[in-house]
Amino acid sequence: MQKFVIQGGRRLEGDITVQGAKNSALPILAAALLCGGESNITNVPKLSDVYAACRILSSLGCTCRMQGHTVTVRADAIQRHVIPEPLMQEMRSSIIFLGALLGRTGSCTLGYPGGCELGPRPIDLHLQALGRMGVRIREESGILTCTAPKGLHGARIHLQFPSVGATENILLAAVLAKGDTVITNAAREPEIADLAGFLIRCGAKIDGAGSGTIKIRGTDHLTGCEYAVMPDRIVTATWFACAACAGGTLRLLHTDAPSLIGILDVFEDMGCRCSRSEDAICFSAGRPIRPLHYMKTMPYPGFPTDAQAICMAALCRASGTSVIEETIFENRFRHVEALNRMGADIRVAGRAAVIRGVPMLHGANVSATDLRGGAAMLAAALGAEGETTLTEISHIDRGYDSPEQTLRSVGAEIVRI
Ligand code: EPZ
Repeated sequence: MQKFVIQGGRRLEGDITVQGAKNSALPILAAALLCGGESNITNVPKLSDVYAACRILSSLGCTCRMQGHTVTVRADAIQRHVIPEPLMQEMRSSIIFLGALLGRTGSCTLGYPGGCELGPRPIDLHLQALGRMGVRIREESGILTCTAPKGLHGARIHLQFPSVGATENILLAAVLAKGDTVITNAAREPEIADLAGFLIRCGAKIDGAGSGTIKIRGTDHLTGCEYAVMPDRIVTATWFACAACAGGTLRLLHTDAPSLIGILDVFEDMGCRCSRSEDAICFSAGRPIRPLHYMKTMPYPGFPTDAQAICMAALCRASGTSVIEETIFENRFRHVEALNRMGADIRVAGRAAVIRGVPMLHGANVSATDLRGGAAMLAAALGAEGETTLTEISHIDRGYDSPEQTLRSVGAEIVRI
């Protein structure tokens, strides 16, 4: 198993070009299933989740080739409608292939994505919505068999919760369905608008993506296109947190400032300075870091749950006590134990974490618990005194493209062993 060894205490200075967004690349790769001809998707990050998505496409009969940061997909002949169990297990978010496969072929069999490190990952909202579009769903010992004998038809769908994945699955199922679909209380995350951008360029008729109400008019054919994935706003926030922990100034290039609503303000509330130009952000760590008296994670445009752990890492040495409430996932404080082992003073009570600022953290041996929890430990280690060994870094490789090279390029002392 690989690990990172980090010597803390080095200030970060320099430029970082932000990678493409994992949570946009994955649904866009699924969307390529719907298209005839060739799709060239660029600015795709080199991540294990992306490789898993490519394996799913290949297992369904597509040709899928990644060269550099470009993935080329041809989906003219879909031979299978079954997503192999091992691939389902490898990547929870493979549930986003459900809508695309149904949209394209009218049937899909896949393993239930089951619980994961963040808590149960129910898909009730996905299944209810697809049921309204004419999909019959049978579950037997963890296997879901979804069929639409008469094809998919448009529907009015109100989401009880603005689920990102459910919104994406409905979009993917609706673009080739018969008639119109309207989604109300849709997720508004920027990755939804990016997915819609790809689909529209392929010929889909979509209005309102990025807002709470999305209208889709079914068409009968989509043709692959060339499309660049948007910059990753959570990775951008991760570099903010690394600089906040270690001290220093970073210039982040190829960012998407509008998608950072709710993130930039929070780091500015913590005393950091952010100045923006068209696609670059200059970020300087504040000293001391100011505490956040109360911050809660919310659906976009609120503070994103994916940035909660890294924000907590930056608050460990704040000049006071902060409170974070995690409203999206049930079990997303698993990084607290490792941060406390590094000298932080964090107490968890249900969905709230109380972070009492301490003057300094010290290096320790810790294990990544999940993708963003691992990133939080990495950020904390950069600002800690002494050496940290971080194991189970396969979690981090799911969402960060060569993080150690990126961090070394701006002065961090970190090696992958
Ligand atoms: C997407 O997950 C992201 N993953 C997550 O990023 C992100 O944390 C999440 O959206 C919220 O922004 C990808 O895009 C691949 P949800 P998703 O459906 O679609 C409950 C990362 O670190 N829910 O908006 O699974 C669910 O249990 C990952 O990059 C239901 O109850 O998120 C959760 O509590 C982690 N029933 C909440 O809604 C459903 O049918 C948010 O889930 C669906 C969801």
